[in-house]
Amino acid sequence: MVDSFAILSATRKFEEDPQRSDSESVFCSILAQMKGGYYSILRGRALSLTLAAIVFTTLLLWAWEKSPFANTLFLTQERFSISSSDYHVETSNKSSNAMRTNGNIEEKESRLVITEEINNVVENSGPVPIISTPAFLPEMQNSGGNVTSSSKTKVCNYAKGRWVADSRRPLYSGSECKMWLSQMWACRLTQRTDFSYEGYRWQPENCKMPEFEKSSFLRRMKDKTIAFVGDSLGRQQFQSLMCMATGGKDSPEVQNVGWQYGLVKARGAIRPDGWAYRFPKTNTTILYYWSASLSDLVPYDSSNKTSNVAMHLDRPPAFLRRYLHWFDVLVLNTGHHWNRGKLVANRWVMHIDGKPNKDEKRAEIGNAKNFTVHSIVRWVDSQLRSHPHLKAFFRTISPRHFFNGDWNTGGTCDNTTPLSGGSEVVQDGSRDPVIEAALRGTKVKILDITALSELRDEGHISRYSFRGTPGVNDCLHWCLPGIPDAWNEILIAQI
Ligand SMILES: *[C@@H]1O[C@H](CO)[C@@H](O)[C@H](O)[C@H]1NC(C)=O
Ligand SMILES: *[C@@H]1O[C@H](CO)[C@@H](O)[C@H](O)[C@H]1NC(C)=O
Ligand SMILES: *[C@@H]1O[C@H](CO)[C@@H](O)[C@H](O)[C@H]1NC(C)=O
Ligand SMILES: *[C@@H]1O[C@H](CO)[C@@H](O)[C@H](O)[C@H]1NC(C)=O
Ligand SMILES: *[C@@H]1O[C@H](CO)[C@@H](O)[C@H](O)[C@H]1NC(C)=O
Repeated sequence: MVDSFAILSATRKFEEDPQRSDSESVFCSILAQMKGGYYSILRGRALSLTLAAIVFTTLLLWAWEKSPFANTLFLTQERFSISSSDYHVETSNKSSNAMRTNGNIEEKESRLVITEEINNVVENSGPVPIISTPAFLPEMQNSGGNVTSSSKTKVCNYAKGRWVADSRRPLYSGSECKMWLSQMWACRLTQRTDFSYEGYRWQPENCKMPEFEKSSFLRRMKDKTIAFVGDSLGRQQFQSLMCMATGGKDSPEVQNVGWQYGLVKARGAIRPDGWAYRFPKTNTTILYYWSASLSDLVPYDSSNKTSNVAMHLDRPPAFLRRYLHWFDVLVLNTGHHWNRGKLVANRWVMHIDGKPNKDEKRAEIGNAKNFTVHSIVRWVDSQLRSHPHLKAFFRTISPRHFFNGDWNTGGTCDNTTPLSGGSEVVQDGSRDPVIEAALRGTKVKILDITALSELRDEGHISRYSFRGTPGVNDCLHWCLPGIPDAWNEILIAQI
């Protein structure tokens, strides 16, 4: 799968490569014409055109040979004999350029390409390991050529772009998707009367975003398992994907396979720790596991419901260690449970190296979160070597929009006008520097939704909770259908 993933994304890069110059395309079409010419019957007009083309090409070739860019031209012709080490050299040039021009996001992008290529080589260790790399070549040519800062900004970054009104949104009905969508998040079932937030699509600036289509998505995910592991915002993304994949329609054929992952309601529990569903036609599994802190939680005394819980900051949740090898796509997230109140309420006691943490500096919430994020990213990254089929993503933090107070001091999010604060993200780097930094140098990819979601303050549950409790405003979770659908579209574009 990594193969087709890599090829897909590589092809996308190729097609969209802004730096593939016009003269290059001209040259390609000339080559094609020449080739065809020998085998087809030429009429006079076509013949003279072809002749002109040959002359032109010769001149072109000659000119190129004299120029410092001769190299790049010949790379086109020798695409099948390129060694990967060339590529790395070229890329490092490119990334150093990129770092000089605008920060580290592009460094990340080019690194992403490198790691994908490494995956390819590992996957295709047969006799023609290089066969899937040609699509990367345009990148090489650019980096070898004249890289201008204006062309640098055209690297595909899904986090950068704009929201556009689209009559094809939402992708499912919020009144129909009752099988997968929690009542508390189905704003169509509340007192809310404006639903204009449903009618927008995220359009990245320089990336192809194929229109979501549920059956082609499921076909692509044949025999695959997509796992969301994280807090309630991860659960929202899971429910969104279930609604997208079923079109929000009742789908009795979809099987509940939670038991295969130990996801069954424990005695006395309100709900299981997660859910897993399988689409039998394509054998596609979509699951969610609740792990708000992405650390391993072990009760001191499992027979005592009120005993403290060891929160092992340097140990992945047992669920992940146990089932990771079954996953093809993993989407992690954490964030909103990292506050003192929630730790105390849950009786979570920080542990490091199997012992209660004594380091006060580390115990500070921000540091503990950063430490945990780095630990889990390092662990997943180390697992990717033995699970080369796995695509791992870390979703950046979902923004809150409490105005005039916080969640517990009367904060609200009453705006209902979409995009009143702007519709565009222009920055290159992530608005979540903790996650961005933790992923740097690893093969875990960023699913960067922070800045684009910041523009959507009107898309929260707001005061329209299902029970409509006065004074309670949810400016953290999102209405569904809504903003998390766009997160999934961005995810799907990358897998
Ligand atoms: C790449 O960088 C190296 C050292 O920084 C330099 O010598 C080389 O000419 C560069 N190559 C290209 C194609 O710019
Ligand atoms: C590279 O591009 C810059 C700006 O577009 C231009 O001024 C410069 O002459 C170019 N260099 C070469 C070697 O073509
Ligand atoms: C479904 O996919 C899994 C891999 O995710 C595979 O192990 C299993 O054999 C498949 N089942 C069927 C019936 O094809
Ligand atoms: C359960 O744990 C709590 C907190 O540690 C303790 O106060 C209580 O006595 C324990 N109950 C039992 C039955 O052991
Ligand atoms: C986060 O943790 C990493 C690794 O432990 C460390 O290098 C980095 O400086 C930390 N960042 C912050 C903001 O504390």
